[in-house]
Amino acid sequence: MAKIAICFLVVLISEVLSAPQGDVQVLRYDNNNQGSGNYVYTYELSNGQIHSEAGGLSDADGDGEPVVVVSGGYSYVGDDGITYWVNYTADEDGYHPVVGQGPGGIKGGDSASLDPSVFKSLVG
Ligand SMILES: *[C@@H]1O[C@H](CO)[C@@H](O)[C@H](O)[C@H]1NC(C)=O
Repeated sequence: MAKIAICFLVVLISEVLSAPQGDVQVLRYDNNNQGSGNYVYTYELSNGQIHSEAGGLSDADGDGEPVVVVSGGYSYVGDDGITYWVNYTADEDGYHPVVGQGPGGIKGGDSASLDPSVFKSLVG
């Protein structure tokens, strides 16, 4: 009887361990957008995916015509178990990604922010 119980337990444990990871939960969702042009959002999922982006109006080149600039990053765990990440900024000169894998990208708990220097000419 004990043998049968142990066999049952082993089968149960291996089924739990091999269950598909389809049940993804949202661990964190922050969204701050007051409609003034500046925003920041972040979401983190239980499968290791995270994305955070901050954006705002900037007139860093001082031409009196503000543009939206964004800064953000996302990261996910591939089927191979490796963490892939992209950090990026986008401004009037285009999209500027920095791509990597392993450590070095955005991590759980991080939030994107804009480099305050992009606002210099609006503030000053
Ligand atoms: C990517 O962004 C994260 C979160 O802002 C930061 O901690 C990390 O240093 C950045 N990595 C690179 C290579 O810039």
